[in-house]
Amino acid sequence: MIKKILFVLVVAFLVQNVWTVVQAKEITVYKSRFCGCCSNWTRYMNDNGFNVTEKPVENVASLKKKFGIPQHLSSCHTAVVEGYVLEGHVPVSDLRRLLKERPDIRGLAVRGMPTGAPGMEQGNRKDDFRVIAIRKDGSTFVYSSHKGN
Ligand code: CU
Ligand code: CU
Repeated sequence: MIKKILFVLVVAFLVQNVWTVVQAKEITVYKSRFCGCCSNWTRYMNDNGFNVTEKPVENVASLKKKFGIPQHLSSCHTAVVEGYVLEGHVPVSDLRRLLKERPDIRGLAVRGMPTGAPGMEQGNRKDDFRVIAIRKDGSTFVYSSHKGN
């Protein structure tokens, strides 16, 4: 009997792990209908193996307030993935690190729209930009820095 229960538990554990690996992570992107760079970011995330759904919203500003994005960090779109918010053109490397380390924070933001950030490509020009982590109390710290040219 014990053996049988153990067997069932082991199988359940394996199936769940395999499922987590196979399953594409879902991202919901809230954006204005008129935003083109938002859709570039959506495409970029899809190309990187995420499963992105776009939700056009009328009032982007009130949505950012709802998600607790500090005003000085706001950008064009706001995305939600596994309980975290992503503001603006966050690179996939930072998102992967976030989902791996799972810190107890609200999410990540790239303020404004830096040229050369994912979805903001303009030839070879790249600005320096930083990814800022937003804690649940609204305070922030630098999560990563990306060098431009
Ligand atoms: Cu944008
Ligand atoms: Cu956008």
